[in-house]
Amino acid sequence: MKIDFANLDKAYQEHSSEFEVAALDVMSSARYILGKDTDDLEASLQDYVKSDFALGVSSGTDALLLAMMALGIRGGDEIITTPFTFIATSETIACLGAKPVFVDIDESTFNIDVTLIEAAITAKTKAIMPVSLYGQMADMDAINEIARRHNLFVIEDAAQSFGALYKGKRSCSMSTVGCTSFFPAKPLGCFGDGGALFTQDQELYEKMKAMRVHGQVQRYTHKYIGMGGRLDNLQAAILNVKLKYYERDIERRQNIAKKYDELLSETISTPEIIKDRTSVYAQYTVRIKNREQVQENLKAAGIPTAVHYPIPMHLQECFSYLGHKKGDFPISETCADQVMSLPMNPYLTNEEIDYITTNLIKFL
Ligand SMILES: Cc1ncc(COP(=O)(O)O)c(C=O)c1O
Repeated sequence: MKIDFANLDKAYQEHSSEFEVAALDVMSSARYILGKDTDDLEASLQDYVKSDFALGVSSGTDALLLAMMALGIRGGDEIITTPFTFIATSETIACLGAKPVFVDIDESTFNIDVTLIEAAITAKTKAIMPVSLYGQMADMDAINEIARRHNLFVIEDAAQSFGALYKGKRSCSMSTVGCTSFFPAKPLGCFGDGGALFTQDQELYEKMKAMRVHGQVQRYTHKYIGMGGRLDNLQAAILNVKLKYYERDIERRQNIAKKYDELLSETISTPEIIKDRTSVYAQYTVRIKNREQVQENLKAAGIPTAVHYPIPMHLQECFSYLGHKKGDFPISETCADQVMSLPMNPYLTNEEIDYITTNLIKFL
């Protein structure tokens, strides 16, 4: 058997005629930059997330950058975040000259350990940036309460969690700004790069909207230093099709995760999904000790795997200037050594899941 990790091919095939009509419509109308498809998408995203404002942007990375630029984050500021994430989280902080201040993760969820945040706050701290890793939000009530007490912004890196719920509220709706990604392999992916920003603050929305187009408030009148951060209309048209089916895709992912859980939970440890939350399973990740060997054996059996992520941020060469060393964030380091993501996409069949889990257990 040969298993597909993300199955983007099937995601295209399933609605190919709708995608083709939508894309042709944009191409033939010559409406390439902003316009109706982006406006429609923003209205639908806003409605889906139950957020006051939504803004389509060029990627999840640019969403983070724009959010921080609009919040006035600059050189010398500190942002508290987790070292167990994709590079974009801390890279964008550093791009603005600010300092990523890491706190370790909670061993059960792999998300930021909220009990460690307060000790990391200094006079320079401006924001907390939790990452909703693998599709599950961090403890947002606790984070928002700390932020309120210390007058900090909260920026959710929701690149992996679009659609997830926390006490019935959607990811991206519970922070000063929520930032998501529509990278193709994300749970809601477009056919290239894309992302979105969400906020309840109109002034901030207006500022991010201007900054998305070089800080422009009228043609060639630039109020802010911004960037070229727009979502392509072509990608918006694709997302307008995909969003219609998104709840069903999430349900499929959750059913697949449940099946994995049933077959693996006796043998393998997986991140816990807290009772008041849901995960959209951007990844289904397990912890194992002999990872390299297992990955090799699975590969030979036609089962692709991935590691999200093998080196925590504080041990990356690009952050050596922060002066961290091995042992500073032990839970992140252990997880980085042990995590392995299994194929996860809405199209995995029961037969494929059985094949994956049987082989995995065999090779442990
Ligand atoms: C946690 C996290 N943050 C940020 C990003 C960046 O998103 P993008 O690839 O759309 O720039 C990603 C996506 O890979 C991610 O997983």
